Amino acid sequence: LWGQARRILTPGFSQEAMRVYHRAMQSVSDDLTAKWNDLSDVSVHEDMTAATLEVISRAGFSQSMGLLGEPAQASETKEFLSALERTLDWASQSSNDLPIVGWVRGRHAKPQLSRDVAFAQNYVDDLIKVRRRTGVARANGGEEGPDLLDLMMNSEDPETGQTLPDENIRDQVLTFLVAGHETTAALLEVALHYLASAPTVATTLRSSLDAGSTTYESIAKNRVLRAFLSECLRLWPPVPGFFRVARTDQNLGGFEIPAGRAVFVLALAAQRDHKVWGTDASEFRASRFIDTRITARSGEFFAPWGAGPRSCIGRQFALHEAAVLLSGIVANFDVDLVDRHEPIRMRERGTLRPEPFTIGVSRVAMEG
Ligand code: HEM
Repeated sequence: LWGQARRILTPGFSQEAMRVYHRAMQSVSDDLTAKWNDLSDVSVHEDMTAATLEVISRAGFSQSMGLLGEPAQASETKEFLSALERTLDWASQSSNDLPIVGWVRGRHAKPQLSRDVAFAQNYVDDLIKVRRRTGVARANGGEEGPDLLDLMMNSEDPETGQTLPDENIRDQVLTFLVAGHETTAALLEVALHYLASAPTVATTLRSSLDAGSTTYESIAKNRVLRAFLSECLRLWPPVPGFFRVARTDQNLGGFEIPAGRAVFVLALAAQRDHKVWGTDASEFRASRFIDTRITARSGEFFAPWGAGPRSCIGRQFALHEAAVLLSGIVANFDVDLVDRHEPIRMRERGTLRPEPFTIGVSRVAMEG
């Protein structure tokens, strides 16, 4: 079933698909700019959560959540997001619980958890029912191709010829809503922290923008912005590591790993290894990703998206989304840290994400 879903959804993450999603991403960027125009202080955690949820919802499911811009948020959507939030909190805390503590906490949390899961499932079931009635969404209100939900509902797996069962479609939608926002919000928050900490970063990024152009091409080809995002991912990968299980007995870097043993690959450490990245490995230096010598070597040690057939399907989506949102911010605002807690402080939930912080925003002074 995983393979079927992966094959069915792969076209939804092609370059062609990114061109279609670009419009939805840009609409969220415009809404964020409109909101920040009226503010001097911004809660980064709150606004990056809202922006990334809106992007996955508008681009993937052709539906606004009402978190930024119009329409106002429906109470059902509010309850759905709270249910998701509580479930995620519970899931990440429970993975750290000691056995007895976990059992006690689990018993206490279970009734609310069951209600939340049922609410979230019903919400998505309704979304699917409505789409079955209305037919293909024609993504993002445009005349272009299908959105992710259309792909899930109407495509056959090229290998087996089967379509996904409704229950699986619902689980996929929930996975995409969660996987698609929390990680990208973490990346954007790290990016904003570095942007707000050093004015030179903003100057470099601003001068890389294509004279105010917001087309798909102008943003996709911006190597300076890409290098900046890569350096954020190197130092603070939102998914700090991943498990793999050895299929056969292995010798890995001098360690004997028997078949069946799980190994945790700690990207957070590997991506700061001085032997690979040099003596300034712990420093933020985006230009290392423009330096070809290091780019060529880094492939083996740079794994914020995981590796192999299970690696992140949303990689291009996340990179393009982050580039669109950051371009909008850099083009329109000067930002600085209000509560100057440097260096960045992180907390671990499902993802590695900065502690909430506030930035000051002011419109970039117009020239002439
Ligand atoms: C900065 C943003 C993101 C990061 C750092 C990230 C990272 C990752 C990582 C490390 C994995 C596990 C890979 C492995 O085990 O090898 C993963 C899986 C996954 N990601 Fe992402 N991700 C991001 C954004 C997204 C977005 C935007 C989406 C969807 C729109 C998405 C959807 C998924 C899905 C569905 C999987 C499971 C893939 C599978 O098992 O086939 N991710 N991601």
